[in-house]
Amino acid sequence: MRVTLIAVQSLDGFITRHDEPGAGFASAADQEHFRAVLQEFDCGIVGRTTYDQMRASGKYRPNPARRRVVLTRTPEKFAAGAVPGALEFTDAPPAAIVARLRAEGCRACALLGGAQAHSLFFAAGLVDELWLTVEARLFGGGTPLLSARADVRLRLLAHEPLGDEVMLLKYAVVR
Ligand SMILES: NC(=O)c1ccc[n+]([C@@H]2O[C@H](COP(=O)([O-])OP(=O)(O)OC[C@H]3O[C@@H](n4cnc5c(N)ncnc54)[C@H](OP(=O)(O)O)[C@@H]3O)[C@@H](O)[C@H]2O)c1
Repeated sequence: MRVTLIAVQSLDGFITRHDEPGAGFASAADQEHFRAVLQEFDCGIVGRTTYDQMRASGKYRPNPARRRVVLTRTPEKFAAGAVPGALEFTDAPPAAIVARLRAEGCRACALLGGAQAHSLFFAAGLVDELWLTVEARLFGGGTPLLSARADVRLRLLAHEPLGDEVMLLKYAVVR
């Protein structure tokens, strides 16, 4: 099973605009791209903060075809909201999560933020690819792509303009 980090960020590396929750700054081109590529993944992993925002948006519905794993240090607090096969909450280490999803037949997993979730999976050496939409915006502050120091080498796989001011970059993680 491959793990692909998918994110949209400003040119100066922020996945949120200042303290605003969510990625409301993302262009229509990125939102269209995001909806389309999600169809390629049969599971997704998010941090609990990102999950709270997905839920607050009112657009998220648990779907067994797109199972979601939410990282939290207190899964027991969320147990009542779990939907078997579609939505789960876990404090398992990333390697155990990936091994279990693979054993259960998942083939492509999207790592969908936020910064803490990204860093956790990079630190565990479990990110295979990074698909990054770069918006032509500068924020000077916000949530960074990674929440912890890292030194990850990447190899460019593809670059594609999604519009005049939006660039999609696809990288493989070099191990
Ligand atoms: N632009 C984009 O593409 C994009 C994508 C996704 C998210 N975002 C934004 O990023 C922001 C959230 O990022 P974030 O870094 O603050 O939060 P996050 O990664 O979404 O979630 C953080 C939470 O994950 C849980 N967690 C962290 N380490 C863990 C571990 N070792 N084991 C188990 N659970 C663990 C904790 O939940 P508990 O507190 O419950 O223990 C922690 O509070 C939001 O504003 C969101 O909208 C942007």
